[in-house]
Amino acid sequence: MTENKQSLTSPTQRYSIHRALPYWYIACKSKNLRRKPIQVWIWNTPFVLFRNSQGVAHALLDRCPHRNVPLSAGRCIDGHIQCAYHGWKYNGKGDCLEVPALHGASTNKKRSVEAFPIKEQQGYIWLFTDSKNPPNHEPYTFERLDNPAYISIDYQADFDATLHATAENILDVPHTAFLHRGLFRGGETNLLDTKITRYLDRVECEFTGEPAPSGVMGKLLGAGANQVSHFDRFILPSIAQVDYRIGDARHLNATSVLTPLSDFKTRMYTSVTVKVSKWVSFIKPIATLFAYIVVKQDKDILKKQVEAIQHFSGESYMNTEVDCLGPFILRLLKKAANEQVIVKQDVGDEDPEKVISGKILA
Ligand code: FES
Ligand SMILES: [Fe+2]
Repeated sequence: MTENKQSLTSPTQRYSIHRALPYWYIACKSKNLRRKPIQVWIWNTPFVLFRNSQGVAHALLDRCPHRNVPLSAGRCIDGHIQCAYHGWKYNGKGDCLEVPALHGASTNKKRSVEAFPIKEQQGYIWLFTDSKNPPNHEPYTFERLDNPAYISIDYQADFDATLHATAENILDVPHTAFLHRGLFRGGETNLLDTKITRYLDRVECEFTGEPAPSGVMGKLLGAGANQVSHFDRFILPSIAQVDYRIGDARHLNATSVLTPLSDFKTRMYTSVTVKVSKWVSFIKPIATLFAYIVVKQDKDILKKQVEAIQHFSGESYMNTEVDCLGPFILRLLKKAANEQVIVKQDVGDEDPEKVISGKILA
């Protein structure tokens, strides 16, 4: 007897997948691109990255125009990339320079491969996902990375989840007291005021009335202090940011830039900057261990979420007013997938599109 995999429920065939293009996404960390070409994926598309003889990074579509072999299977030679199959050689602009069996140089433009804009900054290599039109904005710049008053910790993880589910998870407050019980908060709940502000390219939620956290990380940040300022923010196309201040002296900002490798696989590049002078010497290993435990719990639960969605052939989401940011992240992604929304680094003077006030027990 063959197993019937059809569930008894009606499939919704609804998936929170909106491919926001063209945008800058992180392709890889600078330190991961050395002398060999590497393959990276963004929105189900493979790219090959390599460095020329001056060390400048380039990105091409990872498909040799001759017989479709991935160029990433080839090698770098004289600052160019050479296909592993018949040896066609390309420069960083994607021009085919040589077809060995034709005895020498190639000038036929039809043999070229698509090249994509690249920007290398702050230890990351960003790729703009349009080979035809130059980018009309800059990639995101991490604030405070070079500020000596802060220590920085970076963290990378892959999730078996959509970009939307991963971004929502990073910014979802209610699950921290439940899934991560004891790590952020001590188990007690508090009634907080929420203020959601929507802008053209982002949405943020401000939480007020929050006591200093009593969990492990809360103690590290300095429990006992009051005046907690807490913002969670999503910025198009894929940035999830948690900003937490306790009093004037302590500040934690965790900015996660997400790269959708495919519809159901998302890579997270997190940069955490922390201002806690007293703890500087040993906060790094503790915070890294903390991140490992928290991210493992999130990865496991998101994997189960995706498996269930796929098993039931679609999502069936029930939103409440405490699902503060998820629905608005989805709206932003949907909009950006249909019309490119220009992302601004600084929105200080911009008028919000809408403000919604509420309460949450967290
Ligand atoms: S497939 Fe690349 S050179 Fe033939
Ligand atoms: Fe979490």
